[in-house]
Amino acid sequence: MAVRHRPAAAAPGDPPPASTAAVATPDEPAKEPVLRPPNLRLAAVAAVLFLAPFSYLAFVHYPLDADLRRSILKCAAMSLAGFFVALKFIPVAARYHLRRRMFGYDINKKGLPTGEIKVPEALGLVVGIVYLVIAIIFQQFHYTEDSIWLVEYNAALASVCFMILLGFVDDVLDVPWRVKLVLPTIAALPLLMAYAGGTSIIIPKPLTPYVGLTVLELGSFYKIFMLLLAVFCTNSINIHAGINGLEVGQTVVISAAVLIHNVMRIGSSTDIETQQAHEFSIYLVLPFLTTSLALLAFNWYPSIVFVGDTYTYFAGMALVVVGILGHFSETLLLFFLPQVLNFLCSVPQLFHFVPCPRHRLPRFDPQTGLLTGTKDGNLVNIFLRLFGNCSEKALCIRLLIFQALCCIFCFWLRYMLTGWYK
Ligand code: UD1
Ligand code: MG
Repeated sequence: MAVRHRPAAAAPGDPPPASTAAVATPDEPAKEPVLRPPNLRLAAVAAVLFLAPFSYLAFVHYPLDADLRRSILKCAAMSLAGFFVALKFIPVAARYHLRRRMFGYDINKKGLPTGEIKVPEALGLVVGIVYLVIAIIFQQFHYTEDSIWLVEYNAALASVCFMILLGFVDDVLDVPWRVKLVLPTIAALPLLMAYAGGTSIIIPKPLTPYVGLTVLELGSFYKIFMLLLAVFCTNSINIHAGINGLEVGQTVVISAAVLIHNVMRIGSSTDIETQQAHEFSIYLVLPFLTTSLALLAFNWYPSIVFVGDTYTYFAGMALVVVGILGHFSETLLLFFLPQVLNFLCSVPQLFHFVPCPRHRLPRFDPQTGLLTGTKDGNLVNIFLRLFGNCSEKALCIRLLIFQALCCIFCFWLRYMLTGWYK
C-alpha cells in the first residue's frame, strides 16, 4: 500500500490531517470520522445491469431443472443478504481501519481538498469475510455429506481465505513487489493439494494433425499451470488499478460474464459432470458478485474507501478457483483480456527493463479536474494517451466498457469456434 503511516513514521511532506478522518493522539479525545453515504443508486443500477442477463437465462431462456433453480434461488437469497451485511459493516470497519491508521491518499485528486482526506484502506477485508461466511453456510443447504464436490469446495474456500489473509498482510506490511508475486503461490496450495479433477487438456482440432494426439495428459504439470494461473489472475487485477472504482468494477464485470457463461454451459450441455462443475461455479460467484457490489457502492468515484490488496488478491483467487474447478480456465483467461494486455504492457516496468515508479498513475490537473496519461506502460495511461484527457470517473467507465466488450468478444469467439476448435 502506498501511503500509510504509523504515528512515529509520518513521512515528511504529508498533507495535514483532514478533519473527516481525524485520529486521536493520547491527550486528544477520539474524534469519530464521518464517512459519506455509499452510492446506492450506482449499486442498484449495476446489480440490474449485471444480474439481469444471468437471471433471464437461468429462469426464462433455458429450461433448467427445478432443483437447480431452487438451489440458485437459495444462493441468490443468501448473496442478497451478504450484500446488505457488507453494506452495513464496511463503514464500521472503515472507522476501525482509520483508528489503526490504515488509510491512503487519493492520488488522482492531489492538489484538491479531497486529495488530503484520509481514505480508509483494505476494506476488501469485510467483503472477503462476508463472502466466506455465505459460502461456508451455503454447503449446509446444498451439498450432502457424501458429496464429491465438498472436498474441492472447501479446498477452494481455504485458498480464498488464505489469500485474504495474505492480501491483508500485504496491506499492513506493504511487502515488496517480488514478494507480492509469491503470496498467491502460497494461498493456492490448499486447492492444488485437494485437486482431484482431470489433469489433461484437449488439443484444439486444428492442431491435432501436428501434435498427433487429441488429448494431452499433463500430470503434475497441470498443477503448475493452476499455480501460474493463480499468480497471474491475482496480480493482474492488482496492477490494473489506481482509479476509483476500477479494482471492484473489473471483477464485477468478469463475475457477471462468468455467471452467464456458467448458465449457458449448463443449458446447452447434456453431460452431468459439466453441468455440476458450472453449478458449483455459480454458487461461488453469485455471493462474490453481490458482496463486491456493496464495496463498489463505497469505492465508486469519489471513493469513500479503498479496497486494498486484500480485495484484489481475494478477487483474483475467487475467480481462479471457479475457473479451475468449473473447468473453464481458458474462457476465464479470455474474460481477463484487458488484464492480459495490461500485464503485457507492464512487463518492461515490472521486470525493471525501464524504471518503475511506486505508482504508475496519470497526472492530475487540479485546475481542469482532468487526468493526463504518463509514459507508464499500463492501460490506464494508454487509454488517456489514445482517447484524450478525461476525468477519473469517465476513465473508469471507459475501462469498464472495454472490459465488458472483451467479455462479449469472448462469448462471440466461443460461439464462432464451437465445433471447429474443440
Ligand atoms: C498497484 C500498481 C500501482 C498503482 C496501484 C494503485 C503496478 C506495478 N502497481 O500497486 O502502479 O498505483 O496498484 O492501486 O502496476 N489509490 C488511489 N486511487 C484509487 C486506488 C488507489 O489513489 O482509486 C492509491 C492510494 O494512495 C492507495 C494506494 O493507491 O493507498 C494503494 O496502492 P496499492 O494497492 O498498495 O498499490 P500496489 O498494489 O502495490
Ligand atoms: Mg493494489
